Amino acid sequence: MANPVLGILTLYLNDKGLLEEKSVYAKMTSAGARIGLNVIVFTPQDVDERNGRINALIYKPDTRNWQRRSVRFPNMIYDRCRIQRSKRFEQLLAFRKKYGHLTFLNRPLRNKWTVYRTLGKVAAFRPHLPATRLYTSSDDVNALLAKYPLVYLKPINGTGGRGILRIEKMRNGTLLLQGRDHSRRIIEPMRISRDRLSAELRKWEKKGEKYIAQQGLNIKLPNGRVHDYRMLVQKNGSGEWEVTGCAGRVGPPRSITSNLHGGGEAAPMNALLRRWVGSEAALRQIRETAERFGISVARHLESTYDALCELALDLAIDRSGRVWLLEVNPKPAREVFARAGEKDVYRRAITRPLEYALWLHRQKRSGRSDRSRHADNDASQNFSSQFEHRSSVGGEALPEPMPAMAGD
Ligand SMILES: Nc1ncnc2c1ncn2[C@@H]1O[C@H](COP(=O)(O)OP(=O)(O)OP(=O)(O)O)[C@@H](O)[C@H]1O
Ligand SMILES: [Mg+2]
Repeated sequence: MANPVLGILTLYLNDKGLLEEKSVYAKMTSAGARIGLNVIVFTPQDVDERNGRINALIYKPDTRNWQRRSVRFPNMIYDRCRIQRSKRFEQLLAFRKKYGHLTFLNRPLRNKWTVYRTLGKVAAFRPHLPATRLYTSSDDVNALLAKYPLVYLKPINGTGGRGILRIEKMRNGTLLLQGRDHSRRIIEPMRISRDRLSAELRKWEKKGEKYIAQQGLNIKLPNGRVHDYRMLVQKNGSGEWEVTGCAGRVGPPRSITSNLHGGGEAAPMNALLRRWVGSEAALRQIRETAERFGISVARHLESTYDALCELALDLAIDRSGRVWLLEVNPKPAREVFARAGEKDVYRRAITRPLEYALWLHRQKRSGRSDRSRHADNDASQNFSSQFEHRSSVGGEALPEPMPAMAGD
């Protein structure tokens, strides 16, 4: 039987067809071929509505080049699209709506504020969540500064460390403002008096952007550079959540964020953690706590929202060894593991979603054959339910996922 097909749904970054993670998708295609899964890459722009086909990009491992080919809809979709302000993103929203009946490995998560509130409802998660408020004015920052010496201001839809401001209370009552602008450039540190805060924040805010104000964690290493951890939690080939790996990130000098795209460096978790906590026993305990927490968060978000196949948690570990969740990323890059020298973890990070896709495909097929057996046995009573298997919305016929890649 022909291999099932996984479609990686992505977005062009510009009008020239630039794709962000093309080399990762090439690796996924090669890895998929080894386990019996065909991989295609496409964007909503590549969907040909007239004939219900996709003008997809397909990587050929033997010749190492990409080809454009018209293919049928894939059996499953792996959504890698991140928010961008463009017409392309509007097209994506329309695609997700129109083809919502297809099998997606993952559905969009929510913004930082909504995810925070969802997790905050679970008592067991609360000790790991820094105090956070939706930012509406400098009052929100002042309320946090009354309790904590450090506050971070972050866009609720921000990525890559853009538009993040760190506000630190100094001994003489002034405030130190540091951060990155909305293009990720490091801004000149500024010392201001408390009564200037409101005016400075207004200058900082970007129109149309919403922010959260969050208790800041002191994660500066003795050399003054900030550090944190990225934990990748993925569904495996048995459909279960598992921690694939966790790696440290150290920000560049003068940076208040650790993101690799902002010049951060990766390091194995243990090596970094050893510079921070006393004993090996403490280190083991922290890792265990962090891993249990990561899996619980993934399970909870999946059950609250919708399908998920992976998440990356940005974690801070304070001096006392407490694990804090800074952020949940539903579309994680895997580069941190390659850069930390953890080749096996990197490889697993690439193959796990593929193994999970195969598992899901098998589940669907056996579920479907169970259902149709049931329907055959009880045809008269289940007559109408057979029609529910047909993909049709508002009378409009929609393409069915096809088992084989056209032209193959
Ligand atoms: N509350 C905080 N305390 C200390 N440092 C923080 C805090 N929040 C964020 N940071 C630092 O800023 C970095 C970026 O913040 P965050 O992960 O929340 O947003 P982002 O990186 O822009 O989003 P994404 O990870 O989706 O690209 C963190 O990795 C961490 O180094
Ligand atoms: Mg982050």
